[in-house]
Amino acid sequence: MRFVNSYSDKIKKYVIENNLTYTIDTMGCQMNENDSNKYSGILESMGFKRENNEKKSNLILFNTCCVRENAENTLFGRLGYLKNRRLKEENVFLVVVGCMTQQKHILEKIKISYPFVDIVLGTSAMSIFPQKLYDAILNHKKSIEYIDIGNEIEEEVPIIYEDKYKASVSIIYGCNNFCSYCIVPYVRGRERSRRPEDILKDIKTLAKNGYKEIMLLGQNVNSYGNDFKDIDYNFSDLLQDVEKIEGIEIIRFMSPHPKDFKDDVIEVIKNSKKIARQIHLPLQSGSTNILKQMNRKYSKEQYLEIVEKLKKADPSISFSTDIIVGFPNETEEEFLETLDVVKKVQFDQIYMFIYSKRKGTRAATIEDKVTAEEKVERLERLKKLYEKMLPDLNKKLIGNKYKVLVEGKSKNNENFFTGRTSQNKVVIFKAEKEDIGKIKDVKITSEHLWYLKGEIV
Ligand code: SAH
Ligand code: SF4
Ligand code: F3S
Repeated sequence: MRFVNSYSDKIKKYVIENNLTYTIDTMGCQMNENDSNKYSGILESMGFKRENNEKKSNLILFNTCCVRENAENTLFGRLGYLKNRRLKEENVFLVVVGCMTQQKHILEKIKISYPFVDIVLGTSAMSIFPQKLYDAILNHKKSIEYIDIGNEIEEEVPIIYEDKYKASVSIIYGCNNFCSYCIVPYVRGRERSRRPEDILKDIKTLAKNGYKEIMLLGQNVNSYGNDFKDIDYNFSDLLQDVEKIEGIEIIRFMSPHPKDFKDDVIEVIKNSKKIARQIHLPLQSGSTNILKQMNRKYSKEQYLEIVEKLKKADPSISFSTDIIVGFPNETEEEFLETLDVVKKVQFDQIYMFIYSKRKGTRAATIEDKVTAEEKVERLERLKKLYEKMLPDLNKKLIGNKYKVLVEGKSKNNENFFTGRTSQNKVVIFKAEKEDIGKIKDVKITSEHLWYLKGEIV
């Protein structure tokens, strides 16, 4: 479905005359970041100016996440805080979009306790956003209702990236996996792959506009294309076609699911000059028994086998991962299996989470005997192990030379510029303003736990 904004002209005059500004507050994953870029695109096409300040903006849009519990409290806290402004000031509008709005109990709570919210939209309803906005701003008409996810893909939505040299591009929406702990399939719907020609067209346009690095996004990128009925085209085909696009120099993707990480993709990575030497491979748990209860459909051994194959394809590949500690009834031995995998793979980056019970998921029905204190203690142990491993991993990089995309000035250190290696390691180094957006050879000179220092050679 092509996105058409037939309200743009009708509302623009009012928006510009009243100098209306917006702020987007994004929670959650890169899918949400990407959607927020589209909301920016829609708002700016209607005349809104970005303000990035909740206290001053006319329109505040919350793009929500519900993958873990704490986000709910954050949203309701923020809405409560903005209530007075919304009720007292003219031209203040509150919009709530994203995953949380796809949960009926959240919608009820907004209706009852936060009825001053103007618009609530689901996770795939951008095409009706302009109309809702028009109604809210010019007719003072609210819209707090449940919107079905459906099967449509919205193409040609205007998009504004904050970065000038790297951009994310969604390739597949939704998820079919139903990992037992996870709410995502319920709030994002079933897998829908974008047509290759639409994806490649977007990336070619980005390349023409000077973008060098592309991140291909999806909840499970390597099931890309499984839903095509008329063409035989999968993730490895897409990777090879993106590789051919002139101007794009670095290709990243997230997240692949270990159960679907097939040899054809490993072969493409091996032969590619552009695919980053960093693979984000969500582990979740190192225990085969817990993985089974999580419905992940791979064992500890199968996970390690993929890592081995990738390391064999290119020993410079580094790994990052997601780990959940304290899944219901996880035993000490099972937790130790996770630590064992961490030691074996030597992850460069680990996103660690304590299991959070999500209403409606299968795991939420399990009676859990592990105490909250035990879960926190396990997270601490995992953190400690990781922080102990990291300096040694970093030290091995000293003296090596890497191609680094110069992203901009370092935020923490005035005299330095920042970029990332193909392995996604942050490096800071001295450079010139003119180097921003260029790829430079950087030699690593020292390590500082969360970043490396280097010099352009
Ligand atoms: N599709 C991606 C993950 C999306 S959610 C994948 O399969 O890897 C991002 C991460 O949040 C997950 O990898 C998982 O580690 C974490 N997560 C999801 N549900 C969770 C829950 N109920 N409690 C704690 N962490 C959770
Ligand atoms: Fe959630 Fe699993 Fe789908 Fe990832 S693959 S989004 S963890 S259900
Ligand atoms: Fe959160 Fe939705 Fe992403 S629940 S993790 S923002 S898909």
